[in-house]
Amino acid sequence: MRKPIIIANWKMYKTVEEGRKFIAEFPLDKELFSEVEVAICPTFTALQTVGEVFRNTDVKLGAQNLYPVDEGAFTGEISPVMLKELGCSYVILGHSERRHILNETDSFINRKVKCAFKHELLPILCIGETLEERQKGKTEEVCIHQIIEGLEDIDTKDLARMVLAYEPVWAIGSGINASADEAEETIALIRDVIGENLDKEVAEKMRIQYGGSVKPGNIKEFMKKENIDGALVGGASLKADSFYEIIKGARGGKEEE
Ligand code: 13P
Repeated sequence: MRKPIIIANWKMYKTVEEGRKFIAEFPLDKELFSEVEVAICPTFTALQTVGEVFRNTDVKLGAQNLYPVDEGAFTGEISPVMLKELGCSYVILGHSERRHILNETDSFINRKVKCAFKHELLPILCIGETLEERQKGKTEEVCIHQIIEGLEDIDTKDLARMVLAYEPVWAIGSGINASADEAEETIALIRDVIGENLDKEVAEKMRIQYGGSVKPGNIKEFMKKENIDGALVGGASLKADSFYEIIKGARGGKEEE
């Protein structure tokens, strides 16, 4: 049985002050969070403030990126050692905004995945096709490529602990989510690919989220699906009440499954 996981990706939103406001409004629902794992990935500047408040609670802290070197002359980058020091448990890697705006390649993302594990940070590896790739019937090919390259040479015991997020690029921030059936179809295929190419047990154990215009109104539909274990939420995670509603909806969806 895979524990559902809902993760907030705040992207480049929220000052420290706005982060504080979110925290003050976000209910620490122990019972709910024992059933649904919750993590928040704020901006780097808000990591310390958010992390301090959620330390010793059930809410985990995540970063939105890392540079795959412990320290050095890498102006503007952030080291895994620094993220661990602030209490991060997770790190988002391979997000489509970094792949497409900052030209990150699968082999560079693979270096980051390896580095994350070396520092006991669990990667949330994002994969997904663009609209053009989807229209050309390339969804499967693109996802397989991103998985195989991104997860090359990772130990199976590590793979089973990490999180994969299927985020079709056309659904991100567009308000047009993939239907629950479409998401389930691709995520089931992703699980098969992992089973065939990496490890059967890993395919069973690894949590795979859907991401792209998830809201309180559609989370239940996704969570009712057998292969969908949670969501990576952008816009709707910026307000404490809508993020909390999504977490509640995630539990509700799994109960109705
Ligand atoms: P939205 O929920 O705003 O579509 O963003 C999804 C996303 O990119 C999360 O990483």
